[in-house]
Amino acid sequence: MDNEPVTPPDTTGYGLHAGRIHGRYSRDEIQQVGDLMTDVFLEREPLSHALGTSDPSFPDALRAYSQVLSAQCAVGGLTPIAKSADGAVIALIMVEHWDRNKIPCPQPPELGPFCDILDRLHVEFANRRGADAMVAEITMGAVHRDFGGMGIASRLVSLALLNAFKQGYDEFMTKSTSDSRLGLKGAGFEVLAELKYKEYEYEGTRPFASIEDPTTIQLMWGDLVSIATRVSIATQYRGPMLRSREE
Ligand SMILES: CC(C)(COP(=O)(O)OP(=O)(O)OC[C@H]1O[C@@H](n2cnc3c(N)ncnc32)[C@H](O)[C@@H]1OP(=O)(O)O)[C@@H](O)C(=O)NCCC(=O)NCCS
Repeated sequence: MDNEPVTPPDTTGYGLHAGRIHGRYSRDEIQQVGDLMTDVFLEREPLSHALGTSDPSFPDALRAYSQVLSAQCAVGGLTPIAKSADGAVIALIMVEHWDRNKIPCPQPPELGPFCDILDRLHVEFANRRGADAMVAEITMGAVHRDFGGMGIASRLVSLALLNAFKQGYDEFMTKSTSDSRLGLKGAGFEVLAELKYKEYEYEGTRPFASIEDPTTIQLMWGDLVSIATRVSIATQYRGPMLRSREE
């Protein structure tokens, strides 16, 4: 990774710099993205919060895993981030090419239940899709608490959709563990399947039984062309691909 400058579009209107859609991230940015994901997840993402509360070794394991994911997503080039005026990373929407045969990166044992419940929905989705599906997946999303509720996640999701659309993706999917589902539903995602936290079992335990809100993890899916006509990406991108799809 290098520090090659890229010019991000001015997307937020909050004095932030967001949407390094095609940017290649520096080592420092990858580290910041991994750290932000860890801190936000431990505090507010339901699965991580539950596991972090019950297992003292979970936070370090999550931090190491987040760094691996951050580096992996940076290489893929689909992950928009947002920065504050002082250059700190304050939000991320990690996006990857969805592959039915994807071999997961090595997972520490502390993350067993976290990865297993996500894998169950991966299998559920794989059972519904053909081998040729061009699907992009939002794998993780986090916004620093000081910047929450300002529409930053929504803007980054729109940027991610636009970028995937321009790269030829037809569909988007994600596994929503939190109230992130509210914004995704508003953007046109639909729920394909869900698992109840209180009923989920992992090696004879119920690691997520304490989660009250929301009560489920949801597999969410959206057709990119119909989403494109709903959200702002249609107004941001009027290139040949959209025009030909509209005809
Ligand atoms: C989920 C998260 C990324 C949202 O970030 P954000 O920047 O605060 O979200 P936004 O301000 O863009 O709001 C997104 C949408 O959700 C809606 N929303 C969010 N929380 C809501 C709530 N509690 N009730 C009703 N609507 C809510 C907003 O109204 C908005 O809808 P809109 O796009 O139709 O206007 C952020 O809260 C977070 O980091 N949570 C912890 C980590 C996490 O759960 N990540 C997702 C794991 S799947």
